[in-house]
Amino acid sequence: MTETASAPAVIEAAAYREAMARLASAVHVVTTDGPAGRAGFTASAVCSVSDAPPTLLVCLNHASSSHRVFGRNEALCVNTLSATQAGVAATFSGRLSAPERFASVGWSGLATGAPVLDDCLVAFDCRIVKRVTVGSHDVLFCEVVGLAAPSEADGLVYADRRYHAVPWPRPVEEGGDEPAVERRSGRQGRRRTDAGAAPDPLPRAPK
Ligand SMILES: Cc1cc2nc3c(=O)[nH]c(=O)nc-3n(C[C@H](O)[C@H](O)[C@H](O)COP(=O)(O)O)c2cc1C
Repeated sequence: MTETASAPAVIEAAAYREAMARLASAVHVVTTDGPAGRAGFTASAVCSVSDAPPTLLVCLNHASSSHRVFGRNEALCVNTLSATQAGVAATFSGRLSAPERFASVGWSGLATGAPVLDDCLVAFDCRIVKRVTVGSHDVLFCEVVGLAAPSEADGLVYADRRYHAVPWPRPVEEGGDEPAVERRSGRQGRRRTDAGAAPDPLPRAPK
């Protein structure tokens, strides 16, 4: 991309967050257990890094009440949520304490000791192998040592600061004369696909 002339020299944090809100992201609850205790938080900043060795990354805000615990424990589990778990996402991003969060869901321990939540789409049992601080966040690089319960349940995504169910599978057409997904004309526009109207979003997360 070479069109940088009109870009401002500095992007305001609020403008950056607003732009990032346009990205639809899978929703995860990242959990840990170990010498520093048990903790978990809702996360969308999770990304695959490598498949040899299987490695993913998780970004954790320094301001999170979970930060100290994740900084000392050596294992974590990325629990990718299904469409029925918007309430779980709200619980793990809200004001409850860690014991209250875990008391509200079914869970069990994985090989590393990290908690896996019931009814997830898939869960990645990980050992934290590297921590890098970037601005307000720690980036946790994690080697995946186990997988739990890959399921064919519908997915959950977060976009425009709301939760949405993703009926699965629901491919869009590649190529052809007609776009499979119409561009929205404005922020209040409704998105349609060849498969029909987009599903109504799930309730907003309480913040
Ligand atoms: C959909 C969603 C995605 C989030 N993604 C992240 C994330 O990737 N990293 C992060 O540190 N916090 C993320 N948060 C915020 C945390 O879940 C949590 O609300 C925040 O850390 C405050 O939590 P605390 O009460 O444990 O301090 C996200 C929140 C929501 C609702």
